[in-house]
Amino acid sequence: MLKLGNYGMVFLTTSLINNIRLSMTLFFSFGVSMGSETLISCKRIQNCFVEGYDICARWDPRSGEDTLSKVSFSVKAGQVVAVIGPVGAGKSSLLQAILSELPLKDGQINIRGKISYASQEPWLFNGTVKDNILFGQPYHAKRYSEIVKVCALERDMELFPEGDMTQGGILRCRHIFTG
Ligand SMILES: Nc1ncnc2c1ncn2[C@@H]1O[C@H](COP(=O)(O)OP(=O)(O)O)[C@@H](O)[C@H]1O
Ligand SMILES: [Mg+2]
Repeated sequence: MLKLGNYGMVFLTTSLINNIRLSMTLFFSFGVSMGSETLISCKRIQNCFVEGYDICARWDPRSGEDTLSKVSFSVKAGQVVAVIGPVGAGKSSLLQAILSELPLKDGQINIRGKISYASQEPWLFNGTVKDNILFGQPYHAKRYSEIVKVCALERDMELFPEGDMTQGGILRCRHIFTG
């Protein structure tokens, strides 16, 4: 029990209150607000796959016009997005910009995770069909047969003269991959 006249105790209590007052009124509320902002940012980063802000880019630095002019977009994981526009509008250029093949003049592209790109033109490198499927990765029988199945290549494999050991050069690649 605090007794009147016990000045030591009064000063001690006041100084303790003064010490925690700053933490509780300023730092604690600041921490809560920063914590919630961090949480929201983490959620945004987790959900987003590719984000672009005010992208400006041109293939020829000497040309007077940008191929992409102030393009902003956000594609979340699992979303299907269609980019539409007339021929020469810059749809392919946008994808090239995401792949860093078209350098940005202005703006920013953020990518989270791994991306894969399937170009409009199908092609095969010199090697067997199997080499082309593995593409330098180690062979795992189960995974390999799963990939062949989901790509609906089982029937093609039966038709190839030497199955998946057929040389890519013999085949008309467009017929394999475009049906
Ligand atoms: N690799 C490239 N080198 C130089 N210019 C290119 C290249 N690819 C596209 N372009 C030019 O960029 C513009 C947009 O083309 P593109 O992105 O292919 O349009 P889309 O895919 O919408 O048809 C066109 O003027 C085209 O000539
Ligand atoms: Mg195109």
